[in-house]
Amino acid sequence: MNLLHIVGARPNFMKVAPVLTALKQRPHVEQTLVHTGQHYDVSMSDVFFQQLGIPSPDVNLAVGSGSHAKQTAEIMIRLEPVLQERQPDMVLVYGDVNSTVATVLVCAKLGIKVGHVEAGLRSFDRTMPEEINRLVTDQLADLLFTPSEDGDKNLRREGIATEKIFRVGNVMIDSLVRLLPMARQARIDGLPQRYALVTLHRPANVDDGPTLKGILESLLEVNRDLAVVFPAHPRTRKRIADFGLKAGQLRVLDPLPYVDFLGLQSRATVVITDSGGIQEETTYLGVPCLTVRENTERPITVSMGTNVLVGRDPQKLRTELSRVLAGKAKKGSVPPLWDGHTGDRIADVLVGQRSRVQGTN
Ligand code: UD1
Repeated sequence: MNLLHIVGARPNFMKVAPVLTALKQRPHVEQTLVHTGQHYDVSMSDVFFQQLGIPSPDVNLAVGSGSHAKQTAEIMIRLEPVLQERQPDMVLVYGDVNSTVATVLVCAKLGIKVGHVEAGLRSFDRTMPEEINRLVTDQLADLLFTPSEDGDKNLRREGIATEKIFRVGNVMIDSLVRLLPMARQARIDGLPQRYALVTLHRPANVDDGPTLKGILESLLEVNRDLAVVFPAHPRTRKRIADFGLKAGQLRVLDPLPYVDFLGLQSRATVVITDSGGIQEETTYLGVPCLTVRENTERPITVSMGTNVLVGRDPQKLRTELSRVLAGKAKKGSVPPLWDGHTGDRIADVLVGQRSRVQGTN
């Protein structure tokens, strides 16, 4: 079997690594890795390949940044001849980034089967570019690998045949489980014992001047009680400069490598974020997470995990932060199948050793 994996952006890398490793151990599986180049900075891409032990891509499409239409179209144009030449039996796509949706569109037109890892997540907010990517990808995919029961339900409600849905668990947690011992050793000099770890990059939060200003002001207020450590996405850093805003006393760092960031998360007093994956990682780690969004496509992190949606309401952030500081943070548990073995379950499905999902009837 000839499988081709497509990755492009930072959150894809920790998802592809466990699947590549699991499939490497199966006989008669040939794998090709294509990087679209959506993320291209060393700190957003190369360092993740090194730490996660992902082999160098066989093909790099080097598309770089652009508007959504330009980036998506460029990936489609550059990917089509690669797929025509390599003729894979199946293409695997990950998550909800522009590289994911661009690939699925090309494959559907070429008649190449697609497996979507991390299918079925829905925020029900179509102003989010990722929600559009998720909806389109899942409609066109042939195999849908979901992390949790809500994913199965969403897909069935959208008319996806049950036979295509495989609940396999959360593949990102495989990478976390494997690298957590190393992450616990990783230290960043000069950081305080107790801190709030912050990440922000959603267009809705950072692309509008007054919104970003409001969030930074809330964080400066947090910083009075608890040091804020803020590894900033290149997009966020750029916006802070473009809007002439000041991060004041916040400890703003460059984007961190996977292991270093995981270490920081595991020791954080609280995490404040608008990322999707970090809501899941904090749930696994049992670290309180305050999500600066009005909704989440990962509701299990709220219903079972440590996640609380605070939206952009500074009052809500203050209230939840005081609960954390008073030792009254929300407690959670780890969702089923977030156990470090999702890559194996995906490999089993692909090589035909596993039929359908448990518990999705
Ligand atoms: C993308 C994903 C988002 C994911 C995020 C994680 C989409 C629609 N969005 O958002 O779901 O959570 O990645 O990081 O695919 N830039 C650099 N260097 C890089 C990459 C980006 O400087 O290596 C800057 C560029 O100015 C670029 C901007 O960041 O224009 C945005 O990058 P882009 O890939 O379009 O989206 P992200 O915001 O990273």
